[in-house]
Amino acid sequence: MDHFKAKTVAYKGSKRKLLNNILQLTQEVNATTVFDGFSGTGIVSAMLRSNGYEVHSNDLNHSSYIYGKVFLEGFDMPVVSEHLEIMNGLEPHSGWLTENYSGTVMRKVRAKEGLHIRTLGLLEQNAMKIDSARNYIEKLSGVSERNKNALIFSVILGLDSVFNNSNDQKSSLKEWSAKSLKIVTFKPPTLIEGKKGKQFQGDIFSLSLEKDFDVVYLDPPYTHGVLYASSYHINDSLAIWDKPQLDDDYAIPRPARACFRHKKAGSFYSKKTVEMDFHQLMDKFSFKRMILSYSDAPRNTTNLDALSEIASNFGNTKIYSVEHKICTQYTTQNKRSEKLKEFFVVIDR
Ligand SMILES: C[S@@+](CC[C@H](N)C(=O)[O-])C[C@H]1O[C@@H](n2cnc3c(N)ncnc32)[C@H](O)[C@@H]1O
Repeated sequence: MDHFKAKTVAYKGSKRKLLNNILQLTQEVNATTVFDGFSGTGIVSAMLRSNGYEVHSNDLNHSSYIYGKVFLEGFDMPVVSEHLEIMNGLEPHSGWLTENYSGTVMRKVRAKEGLHIRTLGLLEQNAMKIDSARNYIEKLSGVSERNKNALIFSVILGLDSVFNNSNDQKSSLKEWSAKSLKIVTFKPPTLIEGKKGKQFQGDIFSLSLEKDFDVVYLDPPYTHGVLYASSYHINDSLAIWDKPQLDDDYAIPRPARACFRHKKAGSFYSKKTVEMDFHQLMDKFSFKRMILSYSDAPRNTTNLDALSEIASNFGNTKIYSVEHKICTQYTTQNKRSEKLKEFFVVIDR
């Protein structure tokens, strides 16, 4: 595959760099249909669709639903471009985003005495432009759902391009970065060609699939501290646009749906239940090949050996490690090099 390019948001655990490996593993089993169970940025689904597969996908989060809908169902470029031109020229107006996520605030900072000045993520001018653009989409009538989704994706991409952060929306940088000082512009998402697919939104365990898939690709979360609903809560709020009340007790204020201080984090995040969760997950599908992504990280709730053992209950299991872009077969005899970070647990039936 030539280097596949599709615009999408910055995301912890995005598999953008592993697309060639995922494609190769999919091609090996003569598949025509793929299910992407934890679609995140939508980049894996988009790549597979553009390579001719019929792709159905799912994710828990609202913003991921938008990315997947746009990548798998497409949109009308002339209609979307026309609206984006209007959105780029709108008068900036202060609204929910500007009031809550622009300028600076005095706040407590971990391990420091007193109050300190910190940015809230967006320049006021950018927040106002995004407020105006998102309100414009909300008021549109006579525009199809898929074109509205593409416009919402454009607004999220716009925010992502100027948000003053390093890699999530839980905090923002002390000083305004070069990217955050640029003026936001709204550009169309990447239009993917191929068989039309479907995107679902929900807990994977509650999802009832309409059919079986040749390949099931699973990239669930299992790292303490990486809760996607709180890491990308502003993208979710832009997707839903319900302008919720926020809890100011966080470095970047969050809506209740992104606050987990007194709530359980969900499946895969507890060491006590993670193995049961993976067992239940693998048991859920019929497939020719299941591909499970595993990234080695210090705060994981499980490890490769445990996953490999669970997988062996469901078919013929192999583990591949990805190093320097080459996919080589992993064996437990291999000394686990520090460089080995990305793995695929592959189950064949
Ligand atoms: C590692 S990320 C997936 C990244 C994705 N493969 C990509 O390349 O962008 C894990 C995803 O699982 C989703 N997720 C977490 N718990 C879930 C659940 N119970 N059901 C469905 N999706 C879930 C998160 O919202 C997050 O997008």
